Amino acid sequence: MTSEILQADAGTPFPEAEPGHEWWRSAVIYQVYPRSWADSDGDGVGDLPGIISRLPHLVELGVDALWLSPFYVSPQADAGYDVADYRAVDPVFGDLADADELVRRAHELGLRVVVDIVPNHTSDEHEWFRAALAAGPGGPERARYLFRDGLGEHGELPPNSWRSVFGGPAWTRVTEPDGTPGQWYLHLFDVKQPDLDWTNPQVRAEFVSILRFWLDRGADGFRIDVAHGLVKAPGLPEWDHELELLEGSDARFSRPPFWDQEGVHEIYREWHRVAAEYAGDRVLVAEAWVDPPSRIARYVREDELHQSFNFSYLVTPWRADDLRTVVTASLEAMDAVGAPTTWVLSNHDVLRHSTRFGFPPGTKLPNGIGADDPQPDVALGLRRARAATLVMFGLPGSAYVYQGEELGLPEHTTLPDDVRQDPTWVRSANEHRGRDGCRVPIPWEADAPSYGFGPTSATWLPQPEAWRELALDVQRGVPGSTYETYRAALAARREHRLGEGRLQWVDGYPADVLAFRNGDVLVLANTGAAAVALPDGVEVLLASEPLNVADQLPADVTVWARER
Ligand code: NOJ
Ligand code: MG
Repeated sequence: MTSEILQADAGTPFPEAEPGHEWWRSAVIYQVYPRSWADSDGDGVGDLPGIISRLPHLVELGVDALWLSPFYVSPQADAGYDVADYRAVDPVFGDLADADELVRRAHELGLRVVVDIVPNHTSDEHEWFRAALAAGPGGPERARYLFRDGLGEHGELPPNSWRSVFGGPAWTRVTEPDGTPGQWYLHLFDVKQPDLDWTNPQVRAEFVSILRFWLDRGADGFRIDVAHGLVKAPGLPEWDHELELLEGSDARFSRPPFWDQEGVHEIYREWHRVAAEYAGDRVLVAEAWVDPPSRIARYVREDELHQSFNFSYLVTPWRADDLRTVVTASLEAMDAVGAPTTWVLSNHDVLRHSTRFGFPPGTKLPNGIGADDPQPDVALGLRRARAATLVMFGLPGSAYVYQGEELGLPEHTTLPDDVRQDPTWVRSANEHRGRDGCRVPIPWEADAPSYGFGPTSATWLPQPEAWRELALDVQRGVPGSTYETYRAALAARREHRLGEGRLQWVDGYPADVLAFRNGDVLVLANTGAAAVALPDGVEVLLASEPLNVADQLPADVTVWARER
């Protein structure tokens, strides 16, 4: 049925599935953060040849696909989320031939490759923005971005009070080509990330062309950065609140005029049609910090995107009733539009979950932790993280894994402030430490320089000494290690087809126990303080910790069991 299409498009070796059974409905997708995964040339920054050399790790781990954070030409003002050329690889990561080789090798190993697309803003070093500055006000070059005259007698005040997500105002004033102070441009993120104007047809056409560029090269899909931010309310109406990513989008409250506007959906309908032209079930994934799940569901209606990250799940504390609520709401919302639910616990923007869970449930945590902040209970955090991971892998739908969580890596919570690189730290005037602590290079080998991250001891952020014991080669082959627990869970998830399953809540357990059935597997997670009895006659398939007393489920442990 699909052979003709496959011949015409050599970009993917994967066959197409019947509608409703596409790979992404149940896939486990591993996020590679290129700067920090594997460094081939010893410059301390990870790169594409490094990633290629470590791909067999993903096969051994048992995931279906990898998602790569941006590797495009960029001044790296926001670690590559500031793109200067969407069709070229930054020399720090390699070149286009490396990207092609990465896709080829991944496909050969049976792994799909999802790349990141950053459509809300470009780098200020993108040729379009340079042209916009050079051309001066009023011309078509400026019309691709959101340039406005300032308020006040001499235009000395910003056009409105919108704030940048990273802190400070969302507007910066430019100097015009004739040397006079001039217009202002909008940047919801760093000053080096000017927002594009998505009402401009040139912007729309350019991104369709960029999608095609990577689809033609065999990319299996895209993770869409700030998918809820592209369209701004007409007239850029006033909104003078501080921003937090996951707030204010609730339909019951008024939405900020730059998040989750109706106009984004038309863009994604067009992107859906483009992706559908390609063989092999390419996937479009929204990064949209939108709440509640019923709002998110609107991004994954039948003719729009395929998946969206579930940040409502990510922010849920380790408490059975909260988990039950968010899981139910997520499944209901996605079922209503025929999309798979996704689950995620960590990524490159949030405190790693083994650190979050090291604080009492419900603690309001800062954006980044420094040496003088309250520190987590590391052992408890890891125990709960492992239990939470078994809950996540036990749920039907698709799950995302962030590099290093399979090793149980915690956040680096004592990073010296003078090595921080996240623009959040500077833009918030040192109020928020930001995201460097979850971006520290991965430890692969305990006794190698940079713990095997690269051939030298150079790492763009320092690795904590305690990570030596968490290195992959320390855990590999050791039953009960975090790594082997992830592997066993992913293998069992595949064997029992949990990704394609249905969830059924199970009653009769204490309120602190989350209990559900997915196919023939019973998942029990004890979020309470006391051990509870396991039911009679169950066979434990997998546990997040060794069970010392056979018929007891200890606190902060999850088991997968089979009823006999
Ligand atoms: C979301 C990305 O995940 C984050 O790392 C980045 O800073 C912002 N979008 C801006 O591109
Ligand atoms: Mg390198």
